[in-house]
Amino acid sequence: MAPLILPDAPATEATGAKLARALVPRQGLVVYLHGDLGAGKTTLVRGWLRALGVTGTIRSPTYTLVEPYEPDGRSLLHLDLYRLSDPAELEQLGLYDTPPDRSTWLVEWPERGAGQLPPPDLSIFLHVAAGGRELRLEAGEAVGRLLAASGDFPA
Ligand SMILES: Nc1ncnc2c1ncn2[C@@H]1O[C@H](COP(=O)(O)OP(=O)(O)OP(=O)(O)O)[C@@H](O)[C@H]1O
Ligand SMILES: [Mg+2]
Repeated sequence: MAPLILPDAPATEATGAKLARALVPRQGLVVYLHGDLGAGKTTLVRGWLRALGVTGTIRSPTYTLVEPYEPDGRSLLHLDLYRLSDPAELEQLGLYDTPPDRSTWLVEWPERGAGQLPPPDLSIFLHVAAGGRELRLEAGEAVGRLLAASGDFPA
C-alpha cells in the first residue's frame, strides 16, 4: 500500500475514521500504532473512536495506560504503553476481561508490551514529514481485503 500524506491533524483524524468504518465488520481486531512522540497516534485513535459513536472527551491514556470505550455495545480499548516499565505489568490491567477476539485494541507504543500483546491484525506507522505526517499501513490478509474493499485504501 502506498504511503498516505496527511497535511494536518484533521487529515489524521479523518484517516482514523475511514479505518474504523472500513473495519467495522471485524469482531476482533488488534491494531498497533507506531511512531515517535507527537507523531499523531492519539489523533488517529480519536478519529477512529468518534466514527464509531464515542462522544465526550477522548483523553490519551498516558498515565492510566488503558481507556475502555463501549459505543453501541462494541468494546474498544485504547492503550498507550509508553509508561509501561515492564511488559509483565500488562497482566495487571485486566485487558483480557475484554478478549481481543471480541474487541478492538488500539495500541500506542506496542513495542513496550513486547511478548505480552496479541499479534497485530493491522500496523500503522506515522512519521513527521514536510510539516504534516506520512502514514503507512501493514495489514494481514483479511484486514487488507476489507481496506481495499472500502475504496479509501487502494492496494
Ligand atoms: N497530519 C498532521 N499534521 C500536523 N500535525 C498533526 C498531524 N496529525 C496530528 N498532528 C498534531 O500532532 C500533535 C501530536 O499528536 P498526538 O498527540 O496524536 O501524537 P502521539 O503520536 O499520540 O504522541 P505520543 O507518543 O506522545 O502519545 C498534536 O498537536 C496533533 O494535533
Ligand atoms: Mg498519544
